[in-house]
Amino acid sequence: MNAIAKRRMIRRYTDRPVSREAVIALLEAATRAPSPHNRQPWRFAVLAGAARVRLATTMGERLREDLARDGVAPELIARDVSRSYQRITSAPVCILACMTLRDMDVYPDDRRNAAERWMAGQAVAAALQNILLAATDLGLGACWMCAPLFCPQAVVQTLGLPSDWEPQALITLGYPADAGTPRDRRRVEEVTLWLDN
Ligand SMILES: Cc1cc2nc3c(=O)[nH]c(=O)nc-3n(C[C@H](O)[C@H](O)[C@H](O)COP(=O)(O)O)c2cc1C
Repeated sequence: MNAIAKRRMIRRYTDRPVSREAVIALLEAATRAPSPHNRQPWRFAVLAGAARVRLATTMGERLREDLARDGVAPELIARDVSRSYQRITSAPVCILACMTLRDMDVYPDDRRNAAERWMAGQAVAAALQNILLAATDLGLGACWMCAPLFCPQAVVQTLGLPSDWEPQALITLGYPADAGTPRDRRRVEEVTLWLDN
């Protein structure tokens, strides 16, 4: 409960490197997550150095194209693309979380295939939350970035990932350069129905 209470997104990091052991500890935590039929549909790519720059560049190009198509002003596009690039490339290490449907069940109908797909995504999200909590526990800062979900094929291609890996999220990681910003939550009563008949 302590890590849950303390956790918040940390978007700025010091130069202190993150050890391979620490990354492995986070991935061990990730793989303790629950998954449908215990099929463990998560896959991870650990990125540093040039791979991280390549990913940031590719996702930045896609972001630029999307925003230009939306008619966003060029200076706002440049600001957003640059912020995303900086965030990724200034993190000592990043973990790209992917989903694979390779071991999931296949049904004769779309409804159940869609449910199976959702379940796999939910399992990856559970693994991601484990990473965030374990990072908090180790004194690391982390931020969940959704960008890979918007250009999955480009991410697979630029990193040379197996073709069944579907990029879901990027976790930037490092030792915190600030304490992050505490964000409010809706009260439990606001988001809960208690039903007993
Ligand atoms: C699915 C998902 C996608 C997110 N994508 C981003 C993102 O692209 N960039 C970012 O800075 N934060 C992202 N976040 C972090 C949220 O902004 C953050 O969790 C929320 O504002 C609450 O802050 P807290 O987690 O620090 O309490 C994402 C979180 C989730 C769960």
